[in-house]
Amino acid sequence: MSKQVTVSAPGKLMLFGEHAVVYGKPCIVTAVDQRLKLIVEKLDEPFFELEAKDVGILGYKKPLSEVGKGEIPKGAKFVEIALSNFLKKMDPAFRRDDVGGGVKIKTVSQFKSTFGFGSSSASTICTLKALSEIYNILIPKKEFFEIAYKTVLDVQGLGSGFDLAAAIYGGTLFFVTGGKMIEPLKIKDLPLIVGFTGVKADTATIVKDVKKRFEHYPKQLKNIYDGIGLIVEEAKIALSKNDLEKTGRLMNLNQGYLEALGVSSEKLSSMVYAARMSGAYGAKLSGAGGGDCMVALAPPTKNKAVEKAIEKAGGQVLKVKVNAEGVRLER
Ligand code: PMV
Repeated sequence: MSKQVTVSAPGKLMLFGEHAVVYGKPCIVTAVDQRLKLIVEKLDEPFFELEAKDVGILGYKKPLSEVGKGEIPKGAKFVEIALSNFLKKMDPAFRRDDVGGGVKIKTVSQFKSTFGFGSSSASTICTLKALSEIYNILIPKKEFFEIAYKTVLDVQGLGSGFDLAAAIYGGTLFFVTGGKMIEPLKIKDLPLIVGFTGVKADTATIVKDVKKRFEHYPKQLKNIYDGIGLIVEEAKIALSKNDLEKTGRLMNLNQGYLEALGVSSEKLSSMVYAARMSGAYGAKLSGAGGGDCMVALAPPTKNKAVEKAIEKAGGQVLKVKVNAEGVRLER
């Protein structure tokens, strides 16, 4: 058994189907090449230690028997609950003689937690992967997803789990809530232009607001979700044919529905319009809305113009590649 293990998982971007995925429709998510790295070290003493500078956690330490209990600081929640769920799930394995002591975990991210690339899901997946490696316990991908999804529901009580699937499987996925379907899509590299609003979106609050709206206007919102569902199905085909023009048009349609849901923001919408006006095939927000990022697809000749337009609208262009590799052992 090794003493120390380093793993990494990719961030993600939602391409199509946000919000509707929470209501049973499929979505399309892609893993991005900005990764979160996690180092786990075995300790002789039964303690859990955590250092996660990006989310303000330094020198966090508690007895292993207290993991998952009491007040847990926000930045430590996903890693600690993932550890707690791993310990519970792997209880029989942990009765082995060679297992014991504690763990020290350190996370380092290539991307800011404010981008909305899914640092919480990447850290959850990295925690589980690192623990399975260090304790030499093989967890099949599907079971892996289930422990991770339970962790997310334990921490925030809602979510489809699309971001976890992206961190585990990588690539680009056709995904149905709770991992009911996780289908890797064979797509060419998408020349996606990503613009960050500079504002951190509060996903849980936005999802709850949409739920309230659904309670007030169930029929109308159901129609919106059905419409988004159809767009996702068509986008799956357009992407597989590498039909960027059609993919762009579908992004515009999807954005229209997201505007109707009330989850875009003035900043997101201006960045989306700026991209379209400067030659993009299409553009939309990505994720919960309210902030985080928008994405645009443009012909190569228009890329620079679109990037400039996004910046002029107040956005920060992030250089990322899609279709990145899923969680992996670094050494
Ligand atoms: O804000 P993000 O990037 O985590 O995306 C949220 C996407 C939703 O569909 C609104 C919620 C979910 O869990 O699928």
